[in-house]
Amino acid sequence: MAARIEPRTAEAGRGLLRFITCGSVDDGKSTLLGRLLYDAGMLPDDQREALERDSRRHHGDSGVLDFSLLTDGLDAERQQGITIDVAYRYFHTARRSFIVADCPGHEQYTRNMATGASTAELAVVLVDARKGVLTQTRRHTYICALLGIRQVVLAVNKMDLVGYDEDTYRAILADYRALASGFGIDAVVGLPVSALLGDNVGQRSARMPWHAGPSLLEALESAEAAAVPAAEFRLPVQWVSRPDQSFRGYAGTVCGGRVAPGDEVVVQPGGRRARIERVVTAGGDLAEAVAGQAVTLTLDRELDASRGDVIAAAAHPAPEADQFAAHVLWMGDEALLPNRSYWLKIGTRTVNARITSIKHKVDVNTQARLAAHRLELNEVGYCNVDLDHAIAFEPYAVDRVLGGFILIDRQTHATVACGMLDFALHRASNVHWQHTDVDKRARGLSKGQRPRCLWFTGLSGAGKSTVANLLERRLHAQGYHTYLLDGDNLRHGLNRDLGFTAEARVENVRRVAEVAHLMADAGLIVLVCVISPFRGERRFARELFDDGEFVEVFVDTPLEECERRDPKGLYRKARAGEISNFTGIDSPYEVPESPEVHLRTSGLRVEQMVEQLSAYLLGDAPQS
Ligand code: ADX
Repeated sequence: MAARIEPRTAEAGRGLLRFITCGSVDDGKSTLLGRLLYDAGMLPDDQREALERDSRRHHGDSGVLDFSLLTDGLDAERQQGITIDVAYRYFHTARRSFIVADCPGHEQYTRNMATGASTAELAVVLVDARKGVLTQTRRHTYICALLGIRQVVLAVNKMDLVGYDEDTYRAILADYRALASGFGIDAVVGLPVSALLGDNVGQRSARMPWHAGPSLLEALESAEAAAVPAAEFRLPVQWVSRPDQSFRGYAGTVCGGRVAPGDEVVVQPGGRRARIERVVTAGGDLAEAVAGQAVTLTLDRELDASRGDVIAAAAHPAPEADQFAAHVLWMGDEALLPNRSYWLKIGTRTVNARITSIKHKVDVNTQARLAAHRLELNEVGYCNVDLDHAIAFEPYAVDRVLGGFILIDRQTHATVACGMLDFALHRASNVHWQHTDVDKRARGLSKGQRPRCLWFTGLSGAGKSTVANLLERRLHAQGYHTYLLDGDNLRHGLNRDLGFTAEARVENVRRVAEVAHLMADAGLIVLVCVISPFRGERRFARELFDDGEFVEVFVDTPLEECERRDPKGLYRKARAGEISNFTGIDSPYEVPESPEVHLRTSGLRVEQMVEQLSAYLLGDAPQS
C-alpha cells in the first residue's frame, strides 16, 4: 500500500533540533560552529586531522585551534561562484540530532537568513563581548522573530578578550533580553564563550566559574524541540494515493493536533465532511498520528479532495479566507510590484495572488515603519494580500505550515518572497460571489456572437488604436456588438489617478483587463489598446478569460519607426528629458513570446493588417 514516510518523522523521533546561527565573520561565527563540531566529535576524521596539523604549523604547540583554516561551506561555494542560499549542516551527539542553518549575517543576505530561520526552532545569536549588542544583532533577532523563532541562545563571544569579565557579560545579556522581549522572544539562554579557546562551547569553562549555566552544546541538547504545533488536527494533502480502484488515500504530514480512525474531519476549503477510516503508514496502520508524522488517511466516503486541500478536525476547522494582512520579506532581484499576479504557495496549495497594497515597509535595522510603493530585495513590508481562491489557513504565529507562504514569479519561476499571514481581512469573509441566471453565453447568443477580448499590445505610436479602430468599424458594419477600450481614453477617467511608473502600469493594465473581462461577460467583442509593456500583466489579463476568448495581438512596429512618426510628440519630449519612464526609452517593453496574431507593421497598410486579423478571427473559430 502506498504510504510515504517523510524523513522528518524519523528524525523527530530522535529529538531533531533545527537551529540557525546568526552573526558575522567578525563575531567569530565560523569559529564557533567549527569549535562546536570539533568538541562534539563531529568533524570528519580527515578534517579534524588537517585542522590539528595546520593549526600546529601556524601556531606551534600552543594548543590553539585555528578554525578559520576550516573552509566554511558557504565560503567554498562562493569562491566557486555558486550562489547558495544557506549551508545546512547535519550532526548529532549521543543525545540529539541537529540541523544547523549557516547563513551570512550581512544585510544584503537578509533573504538567506530568512530562509534559514523559516525552518529553525532556535537561533544562536552571536555578539562580540567587546562590542555588545549592535544594529546587526537587532536585525538578526528581528528576522528570527519574524520567521517564528521563539528561543535564542545568546553567545557572548571573545570573553577571553575582555578578561572573562562577568559584569561585561551580564550587561550585554541584560541589553539583549530587553531587545528580544520587544520581539516576543522571552526564552533567552545566555552564554559567555570563547569560541577560539573552547570556553563554554563543548564543555563548561573553568575560566568562568561564575557562569552557572550550561555550555553551548548542553543548551542545544536540552532546548525545546519543536515550536508548539497547533492544537487542532490539520493535514495539508500532499498527494492523493490511488494505487488501484479499491484504495484512495490522502497523503501528507500532520501539521497540527492528532488524528485517529473514527474522527470526524472536514476537507477544506469548503467543508465536506467525512470520518477517518484508516491511518496508514509504510510500517502498518496506526491507532493515532500526531503532528510531524507523515501518513496516508483514508475516509469513509468518496470525497473530491485533492493536493492542496487541508483535512481538519470537523469540530475545529481552520478559518478560510482569500484576503489577508501579512508580512512579506522580498527576496527577488526585481522589486515587488503591487497588483502584479504571483503564485502563492502555502502548505501544499498554490494559488494566484496579488499584493494589493503595502501598508508600510519595516526598516530591518530599526523596525521603523516607512511609507512604500514597492519592496526591493531584502525589504520587509506589511501588506494586504489578495488570492483568487479561498484557502484554509492559520496565522503564522499559530502554525508555520498553514500560515507561512512563498511567492513565485510566474515568468522565471524564482521564489521572490516569503510571507507570514497575520490575519484574514474581514471583507474577504463577508463578500460572496453572486450567481446570475443570465450568463455570458446567454448574452453572447442573444447578440449572435462569441464574446472575445482582442488585446492589442505594442509601443506608443505603434498603431494599436488605428488598427483596432478600423477593425471595430468592420465588425460593427457586419452587425457585431463591440467596444474599444483605449488606454489613453481610460486614463482620462477610470485610470486618471495612475502615472507611468512600473507599479502604476501594473495597476493600469489590471483595471483595463478587469473591465474588458466584464465587457466580454456582457457578451461583447472587446478591443483593448494599451501598451501593456509587461508579460506578467498580459498573462494576468489572459487568465481572466476562457480558453480561446483572449487574442493577443502584437502590433510590432520598431522603436525607430514609432519615434519617427511620433504622433503625439511624446518621443521628442522623452528624448529631451521632459517626461520620464517612457516606454522604449527609459522604461522597458517586454515583447510577447507567443501572441495569437503578430502584426509586423513595416510596409503594411492598415487594411492589410485588419485583413490578417479578420482571417485569424474567422479561421480560428466561427464568430457565432
Ligand atoms: S500602459 O503602459 O500603462 O499600458 P497606456 O497604454 O495606458 O500605457 O498609456 C500609454 C499612452 O500614454 C501612450 O500612448 C502615450 O500617449 C501616453 N503616455 C504618456 N506618458 C507616457 C509614458 N511615460 N510612457 C508611455 N506612454 C505615455
